[in-house]
Amino acid sequence: MERTFIMIKPDGVQRGLTGEIVKRLEQKGFNLVAMKMMNVSRELAEKHYDVHSDKPFFGNLVEFITSAPVVATVWEGEGVVASARKIIGATNPLTAEPGTIRGDYGISIGRNLIHGSDAVETAQREIALWFEESELTTWKPALQNWIY
Ligand code: PPS
Repeated sequence: MERTFIMIKPDGVQRGLTGEIVKRLEQKGFNLVAMKMMNVSRELAEKHYDVHSDKPFFGNLVEFITSAPVVATVWEGEGVVASARKIIGATNPLTAEPGTIRGDYGISIGRNLIHGSDAVETAQREIALWFEESELTTWKPALQNWIY
């Protein structure tokens, strides 16, 4: 089953949007398989964003991600990588469509609330970077038998 890595950034956490963000992904029908609130080390932030290390915003982005706790999550479901990106909305919240998380709650590109993996291969790399295998749970059909 396809998985994606979703991180609620410090601004999303501090604005009290963790529940709203989780709700949107849950209600879409995706399964939450891992979640942890954590402080991010500079080493982890730099590894996570290493493809952007030559961009002018890299330093500020790493500073921001390491400045306060984030909520790191992994979600599972058919087509979850692309679908979650749609739910999140465009990188710049000012141009993100209303109805998306960034479109509804953001203004600034440097405070865009949430990160979602951009491709299946990226998701695999990011999940391995942020989570131990033992932290990832499995949804067994038997666990859902009581939902009618
Ligand atoms: S690029 O240049 O198109 O490759 O970059 P992009 O995919 O749009 O963004 C890569 C990540 O950098 C964040 N970003 C920024 N952060 C702070 N300030 C500025 N100006 C800025 N521009 C882009 C952007 O949100 C992406 O991070 P994630 O965590 O994936 O959202």
